[in-house]
Amino acid sequence: MTLFELVKLALDELYAEGSAIYGSALDAEIKKRMAYLSMCYGSLNNMSRTPIDYKDPATRFAYVYKYTASHGDYVVQALQSVPVAVFPSSNTRLSCIGGGPGSDIVGVIKFIADSGIKLDRLTCYLVDGEQAWADTWTEIGDALSASVPVNVNFQPLDVTQPSTWSSQKKFLSADLFTLSYFVSEVMAFDQTGVVTQFWKMLFDEAKSGAKFVYVDNGHSDFNEYFDYQWSKARSDVKCLYSFDNNRMLPRFSEQTDSVAIYKAKFGQSPKVQSYLSIRILEKS
Ligand SMILES: C[S@@+](CC[C@H](N)C(=O)[O-])C[C@H]1O[C@@H](n2cnc3c(N)ncnc32)[C@H](O)[C@@H]1O
Repeated sequence: MTLFELVKLALDELYAEGSAIYGSALDAEIKKRMAYLSMCYGSLNNMSRTPIDYKDPATRFAYVYKYTASHGDYVVQALQSVPVAVFPSSNTRLSCIGGGPGSDIVGVIKFIADSGIKLDRLTCYLVDGEQAWADTWTEIGDALSASVPVNVNFQPLDVTQPSTWSSQKKFLSADLFTLSYFVSEVMAFDQTGVVTQFWKMLFDEAKSGAKFVYVDNGHSDFNEYFDYQWSKARSDVKCLYSFDNNRMLPRFSEQTDSVAIYKAKFGQSPKVQSYLSIRILEKS
């Protein structure tokens, strides 16, 4: 399956959820939400902005349509650059921080399938502050399982609210953590240092040998903020690979044909290129 074929499954569910609320006004609503997201992503480094609201199904559809497949493919390309095995055991744990929209998990599954890696089981934690994402990917676990036996768990956690993460520990036992377009999403809310506390807890409590895949908007504000968290503030995390502020395209095989029905409706294509930065880290 291509990433766009996997994404189409989620889109069909989200479209049905949106139709139940908006009826025939749904397409117009989705177009508005595409514009809303695009406007929000233009000002992620504005420290006085408000959090992006993903609750509404029209917004979630807009996000998954525009961004999930390409972000998933950037995760695949990031994993292909890692010089060491990232799946150490046949029963691997994956934690996708800010992974509610599914981009990270579909990327990891595609990487495993394309690389011919054999796993008995992939246990995945989608760790996200927006509970509304929970239905989308846990319900299509069966379709994902076609290529890799995967068990998807949704873990509601808001990095700006320590009360939501101080008692949740399972996701910290992961072999692989993904941080795809998440750091830029929450950096503006770290003025009190609360998100820095979350990064500290994450790097402190991750196990030895755990890998971290960071993919995000290529901008020095985000690169410097994240590099501070894993390198300046500590010495037990090393960088295995880095890529700064460069253009990346989803690979040729990731054609958008499977979402043609939605392309025709909205007159817009999913995002197909970005300037991004990558870090692959390992905890010693
Ligand atoms: C730009 S999306 C990235 C999604 C996905 N990882 C990707 O690459 O497409 C940011 C995600 O972070 C989540 N999020 C935003 N603020 C958060 C917070 N304070 N705590 C936890 N998750 C948050 C959102 O619900 C959303 O799923």
